[in-house]
Amino acid sequence: MSDIKVYPVDKEGAKSAWINEESYQQLYQQSVDSPDVFWADQAKRLDWITPFTKVKNTSFDPHNVSIRWFEDGELNVSQNCLDRHLATRGDQVAIIWEGDSPDESLNITYKELHEQVCKFANALKAQGVKKGDVVTIYLPMIPEAAVAMLACTRVGAVHSIVFGGFSPDALAGRIEDAGSHFVITSDEGLRGGKCVPLKKNVDLALNNPNVKVEHVVVIKRTGGDVAWSEGRDLWYHELMATASADCPVEVMNAEDPMFILYTSGSTGKPKGLKHTTGGYLLYASMTHQYVFDYKDGDIYWCTADVGWVTGHSYIVYGPLANGATTLMFEGVPSYPDSSRFGRVIEKHKVNQFYTAPTAIRALMQQGEDVLGDSDLSSLRILGSVGEPINPEAWEWYHRIFGKGQCPIVDTWWQTETGGIMIVPLPYATAAKPGSATRPFFGVQPRLVDNEGTELAGATEGNLVIADSWPGQARSIWGDHERFVQTYFSTFKGYYFTGDGCRRDGDDYYWITGRVDDVINVSGHRMGTAEVESALVAHPKVAEAAVVGYPHPIKGQGIYVYLTLQAGEDGSEELSKELKAWVRNEIGPIATPDLIQFAPGMPKTRSGKIMRRILRKIAEDDFGALGDTSTLADPSVVEDLISNRQNRL
Ligand code: WT7
Repeated sequence: MSDIKVYPVDKEGAKSAWINEESYQQLYQQSVDSPDVFWADQAKRLDWITPFTKVKNTSFDPHNVSIRWFEDGELNVSQNCLDRHLATRGDQVAIIWEGDSPDESLNITYKELHEQVCKFANALKAQGVKKGDVVTIYLPMIPEAAVAMLACTRVGAVHSIVFGGFSPDALAGRIEDAGSHFVITSDEGLRGGKCVPLKKNVDLALNNPNVKVEHVVVIKRTGGDVAWSEGRDLWYHELMATASADCPVEVMNAEDPMFILYTSGSTGKPKGLKHTTGGYLLYASMTHQYVFDYKDGDIYWCTADVGWVTGHSYIVYGPLANGATTLMFEGVPSYPDSSRFGRVIEKHKVNQFYTAPTAIRALMQQGEDVLGDSDLSSLRILGSVGEPINPEAWEWYHRIFGKGQCPIVDTWWQTETGGIMIVPLPYATAAKPGSATRPFFGVQPRLVDNEGTELAGATEGNLVIADSWPGQARSIWGDHERFVQTYFSTFKGYYFTGDGCRRDGDDYYWITGRVDDVINVSGHRMGTAEVESALVAHPKVAEAAVVGYPHPIKGQGIYVYLTLQAGEDGSEELSKELKAWVRNEIGPIATPDLIQFAPGMPKTRSGKIMRRILRKIAEDDFGALGDTSTLADPSVVEDLISNRQNRL
């Protein structure tokens, strides 16, 4: 590993940083030696309506998985994100909104945001939304998305945000699973100059007889025509026009559910991870401050969508709990052209910039001057999230965005973890491009072999976490048994992340990717089983097997092997039709990249598809197929190889 470049800590910058090398060591030690003392102290960053007397009460024992933090404390998220800032920073900008078009932007102060949230909270109550009800949010990246989230937390409703790129079917499944009776959407979304028919998708989703929704609140974004169901559908602006701006907060227990967020697993149905109030907010707020070394007055920009956990924790809750100015971007990096990120950084003088490796690689492909003459001198810290960042992309990001001056924080975490878990704190940990480096406070990563035996020293294995942290998901909505099965039964006594990982001689962690049947496409998590079940729903498809393969921009691409029904023939046409089919069934992010028609799949004698072989062929690495002698019909492999779609 001697050829790996190390970027030492900037000692000058460290002088004024929240955390430096010494304080990291010391606080980390305290966080694992005396978690109760450590977290009780950290929890002072929140306003508690009723102070807690208990801190940590958690068990990873598979017979009794139970995770509780601050369990007798009471607080309210929207009060922590808004009300408590009014006296000191009411006129400070809370949200800078940058529209899809470069001509459209908006500054919203804490006072204004508070007023909108109070009004919308009252409007929700007037429509019957009560504490504990699940409200589905299906919105583009407009300020009203943050207003809706905070209004839910104000009244104690549990939000379930569904990414605006998901199909009507995917939306319907999530509304049904969550038992949600309220939906908040907009007429249309706007991305890269194109309209996304959100209200139309909601109407289609609500045609599903299992979906029982009382009200749909519709925000006018584009003014495009929408169908209207009288009595069910309500305009946001009409509700807001008459709503009172006086709305006391609902008092919530620290362990009351705050939101549900669906994510893919290795089996078919998406899992609704349940996050609760106190621990989540504490963890989002604390990680946001320390990971981005956020200081008063900084302009912070995370390019994620609020439909993903990154948007929850690092566009809305972490920053607003910290009284920060957070930038929300409606558009895409390539519109009107690929200098957009640079233009926005210059326009709003962004100090911290947090994006995904896939976006960096897409820009990198267009050359060194892709950001034009944008002035990037305001940037101080760069962040990366969603997938491993390859060292080439890291170096490019460092050089082109950071001018060689900005620390890069490569943040490893998951929907399940609520916040950042492994990361080089910007002025405390020397960076190695491609490594997420060291654990955040309270996080105890371990590597185990497939039998669950802990591995010591420099080695590679399954990444597990040995003890709970406050931001951890508490359960899967409506299916605690699945929660226990998925995360706590493979390796007893640990939380299993699903990731493989290497640890080097400096105790740095290097995430190597998923070890389950989950692939990571442009930083989005995709269960191969979900794509397969969409494909077999097509009348011409008999069997489908989906694997990931290395893709220069997306990280992983979606590679499909298909056996058609007898009498059907594979063609370019059918390939296109099936791509469109999956797009329509799940959403554009699930669109297959490559489809190979395969008369036979490599199966064991018991009928199990050997994915290892399919992965190798998809990687164009069929020299190393390993043992194929257990296949029922080893001859299918020849055909698979000769018709492979990815030729390097
Ligand atoms: C999976 C979680 C974390 C919010 C966005 C994705 C992969 C995430 C990194 C990173 C290597 C990463 C892992 C993880 N991942 N960040 N910095 N380095 N891998 O959340 O959709 O729940 O996906 O994304 O495989 O398990 P998610």
